[in-house]
Amino acid sequence: MKRDFIHITDFTTEEILDTLELARELKEKFHKKDKHHIFKDRSLAMIFAKPSARTRVSFETGFTWMGGHALYLGPNDIGIGKREAVKDIARVFSRYNDVVMARLFEHKHMLELAKHATIPVVNGLTDYNHPCQIMADILTILEHRGNIDDPKIVYVGDGNNIVNSWLKLAERLSLDFVCACPDGFEPDEDTINSAREVGISNINITHDLKSAVKDADVIYTDVWASMGQKDEAETREKLFADFQVNEDIMKLTGKDTYFMHCLPAERGREVTDGVMEADYSIVFDQAENRMHAQNAIMVKLAEWSGII
Ligand code: CP
Ligand code: NVA
Repeated sequence: MKRDFIHITDFTTEEILDTLELARELKEKFHKKDKHHIFKDRSLAMIFAKPSARTRVSFETGFTWMGGHALYLGPNDIGIGKREAVKDIARVFSRYNDVVMARLFEHKHMLELAKHATIPVVNGLTDYNHPCQIMADILTILEHRGNIDDPKIVYVGDGNNIVNSWLKLAERLSLDFVCACPDGFEPDEDTINSAREVGISNINITHDLKSAVKDADVIYTDVWASMGQKDEAETREKLFADFQVNEDIMKLTGKDTYFMHCLPAERGREVTDGVMEADYSIVFDQAENRMHAQNAIMVKLAEWSGII
């Protein structure tokens, strides 16, 4: 049966660890400029209903490096869920392509795509989650920290799609995860409850930023207004003003702490230029690891689905 990567919990803990190990192997190969043509004569359809720099370039470059061909479909090409039904696109692309990656607004459309496609579907972000990002992030923490044993990760800002994916990872790996957000901007309640029910991670949702960051191994932030919410940017700027990651907040951890951001960053809003450029900022390692993590995810899905 074909496998998809829509939520981090689509993979077992063992599968996540195996995927991270493969990502590290593929990264080493890529750096040596070795050929890795596992997807020779295969194609990846990339559906983008929202803008992207990293997701588009990392998937296209990665799939091309693995010997395949990636096709980009931008926001004006399909009109998925509007001009054409999601379930029709799912079945049409399954006839042409070997893997499909999609970045969509509505999460229910992603679920519909996966349900009706007979090829593996990879979630490249929805309003609800962003699993490829968090796989790249945990890979980055593993590389810098040397292990992923109970890291204290303090996410600061909007309880958005990035946070929901961290909470999903917390169902598979043991994390000390804190989300410090303004009142009313908490992550999805069912997702919090589900992570707590699994019970392998500490989950703390708080409005007290200064106490939250104490002893953090990682401070992570994201934009205050996500794609699809940009008309709220001005209002949110006021509501989130006390949740900026700046040099003073970084000092409050009381230890050496990495700074992470999925990018794109709005410097001067959720993070200062100084923090972005500091030695402890590992944002570009994160960005690079998008490609290696995704390459490993696609290889694993293709193997498990019997495609390669
Ligand atoms: N982090 C991320 O997904 O970046 P893009 O929006 O540029 O793809
Ligand atoms: N929360 C952001 C993440 C961008 C990668 C957004 O959805 O716009």
